[in-house]
Amino acid sequence: MTRLNDVHACVFDAYGTLFDVNAAARKEQENLGENWEKLSEIWRTKQLQYTWLRSLQNNYVSFWKITEDALDFALASLNIKDDAQKERLMNLYLELDAYPEVKQTLERLKDAGLKTAILSNGSPEMLQSAVDNAGLNSVLDGIYSVQDIGIFKPHPSVYQLTVDQLGLAAGQMSFQSSNGWDAYSAKDFGFQTIWCNRFGQADEQIPSTPDCQITNLSQMLPILGIS
Ligand code: LAC
Repeated sequence: MTRLNDVHACVFDAYGTLFDVNAAARKEQENLGENWEKLSEIWRTKQLQYTWLRSLQNNYVSFWKITEDALDFALASLNIKDDAQKERLMNLYLELDAYPEVKQTLERLKDAGLKTAILSNGSPEMLQSAVDNAGLNSVLDGIYSVQDIGIFKPHPSVYQLTVDQLGLAAGQMSFQSSNGWDAYSAKDFGFQTIWCNRFGQADEQIPSTPDCQITNLSQMLPILGIS
């Protein structure tokens, strides 16, 4: 097993890593019928594409607006014209479930004396709402949003936020993301990096390969030497 050393803080991606991005559509399963998974997939894929496209265009808008635009695209793709359905899905996005192991893992990291933080594309209100809903306030030292700099991941200035906020070198932090492209980009920036590959995705073909892969966050504890 790969072991990470000299880690003083653990920084987490939010969506897909701490919070279940499919939870909103899953909760609307009865109304969406067999389309729910397809809708969730298009919604998430388009949401990420819009972050990259708008960053390249230099046309930043909040992640909340990006999420709404992506949902509009997903609903139109499936020929769903239902404003009330859209509103329910957007509201559910504010209270996405955390994955089952998240809270306990963060507690164990805090007990071991490590700092913990979120670094996310999410706008501050969205992140605070999800953190409140999952009861994670007491186990997080910081919630950092790209909104302060107006560009999305994987721009290096986003990863730099944690260096500035936590006062640590990138190499003194471990970065966890379930999004392969985010984990690779964080490694390229200089973090020690754990790819929480929840969805069994293939390796990315971009620089730089994360230090290790796990399938749920509790598996990071032994990697950090916490038993
Ligand atoms: C985030 C997206 C990338 O939370 O999941 O930043």
